[in-house]
Amino acid sequence: MKIPSPLLCFAAIALSSCSERPAVEASYDVIPLPQKVALDSAEKAFKLNPRTRIVATDSAQQINARLFAEYISSLTGFTPKIVSNTPASDYIHLTTDPAESADAYTINVTADSVVVRGGSASGTFYGLQTLRKAIPGKAEADVLYPAGKISDVPRFAYRGAHFDTSRHFFSPDSVKIFIDMLALHNMNRFHWHLTDDQGWRIEMKSLPELAKIGSKRAGTVIGNNTGEYDNIPYGGYYTQDEVKEIIKYASDRHITIIPEIDLPGHMQAALAAYPELGCTGGPYEVWQRWGVSDDVLCAGNDSVYVFLDKVLDEITGIFPSEYIHIGGDECPKVRWKECARCQAKIKALGLRDDKHSTAEDKLQSHVMKHAADRLASKGRKAIGWDEILEGGCDTTTVIMSWRGVQGGIKAAQAGHDAIMTPATYLYFDYKQSHDEGEPGAFYAAPLLLDKVYGYEPIPEDFTDEQAAHIIGVQGNTWCEYIPNFRHAQYMTLPRFAALSELQWSSAPKDFDAFLVRLSQLRKIYDAEGYNYNAKAFERQE
Ligand code: ACM
Ligand code: ZN
Repeated sequence: MKIPSPLLCFAAIALSSCSERPAVEASYDVIPLPQKVALDSAEKAFKLNPRTRIVATDSAQQINARLFAEYISSLTGFTPKIVSNTPASDYIHLTTDPAESADAYTINVTADSVVVRGGSASGTFYGLQTLRKAIPGKAEADVLYPAGKISDVPRFAYRGAHFDTSRHFFSPDSVKIFIDMLALHNMNRFHWHLTDDQGWRIEMKSLPELAKIGSKRAGTVIGNNTGEYDNIPYGGYYTQDEVKEIIKYASDRHITIIPEIDLPGHMQAALAAYPELGCTGGPYEVWQRWGVSDDVLCAGNDSVYVFLDKVLDEITGIFPSEYIHIGGDECPKVRWKECARCQAKIKALGLRDDKHSTAEDKLQSHVMKHAADRLASKGRKAIGWDEILEGGCDTTTVIMSWRGVQGGIKAAQAGHDAIMTPATYLYFDYKQSHDEGEPGAFYAAPLLLDKVYGYEPIPEDFTDEQAAHIIGVQGNTWCEYIPNFRHAQYMTLPRFAALSELQWSSAPKDFDAFLVRLSQLRKIYDAEGYNYNAKAFERQE
């Protein structure tokens, strides 16, 4: 039966006032902590309600508006309408002020309106994330935003998270959820580890065997390289259409995807597809165990350079990112030392051991330089793991410091830009507690939340010039021991929350205050259905 709404209203008044829907109070104690919040206690709060309009006048703000409306809908049950004309009152206006830096934003809250002004559409997006995270969880209710002004700007321009989709494959939908998790934490770079010994995971049209053969392994080692295998065929790769859709999905959320093609080591899956690219000629299999394979690309074989050009040309054709990651980590030189072609190349290039590096280290630099030059010819820049400093590389290459902080420090001192991602603080495959049975990489000491939170990316004795070379901070999630996406969420949440504070906030550290704010963020994790490590929400010893 359809009851006329005035009658419904009359009935409701018998219980309370018709206009009195339940309302929850928002709090700006969010993660990452905004740089400045000035509340105006003399002004009434703004009430977000089903009649509130979101005002967005250009296409970038309309994308922001649609995402914000979805966030509001999943938390409150109502979906605010998006309009292009500003109403007299009761609206949230998304706008830009190009005088500010791109990711900065201000939010002005009065009883009548909320104005979110970004330095660009990305800044506005971070302002909207703050409004979203201010809502205290899922409730069928209006939201009261306290009046005042928030002014916010991130500490680092590069705020990244890495995800290894080679050791285990995660569906395109899972990758999108991972991207949503980055957006929630104000991150703007997704470092996508697409290739490794255990699986090549991106379609290459000019090298079809990479996906056809390189994406499948015959089985997977059980546990920590026990020597026993499950013998269950395992595989998966992303088609270029899927990748393009994911790039757009990320871009709507102001996230740039940095693909990684790890070379010249960690290439056994590619060698299984094209054995002629290895020093011994194979045969090779897509690796079924974990670790660092001795079988790497043959640096003395001209076909390898043609292969790299083809791969990098396709990668730059697909990914618009300024930076492309070319790996360079953990490349054993045993095959090169014994390979006639590699040794002939060393001779032809006039490479010799010296007190800093071996001739083979320098041969690796030669391969890395070839790849970096190919990227430069397409207007792109290379990122490499800190090993690439060993054989020397020029300062246009960005260094990702993972074996502790020394690589990043050396790189910044030498004039490279550097991204800090030291394993001891920012590897999220490490266990999260000392508890028996806590999942995580077997070889690492537990990495508790307070240790992540306590990390300071800029060394105390750095000059301003050196500090300016530390362009950002990133957490890495390697997936040898992470077989499914729920598990990946468990490993990264809530450590992403601590990471996001390092990346964004300049405030003095206060772990107890962070834990209080984390309990509010947990409600958003719950509303989104994210899996997380519940123990980490309390101080652990
Ligand atoms: C790395 O963890 N091998 C970069
Ligand atoms: Zn060789």
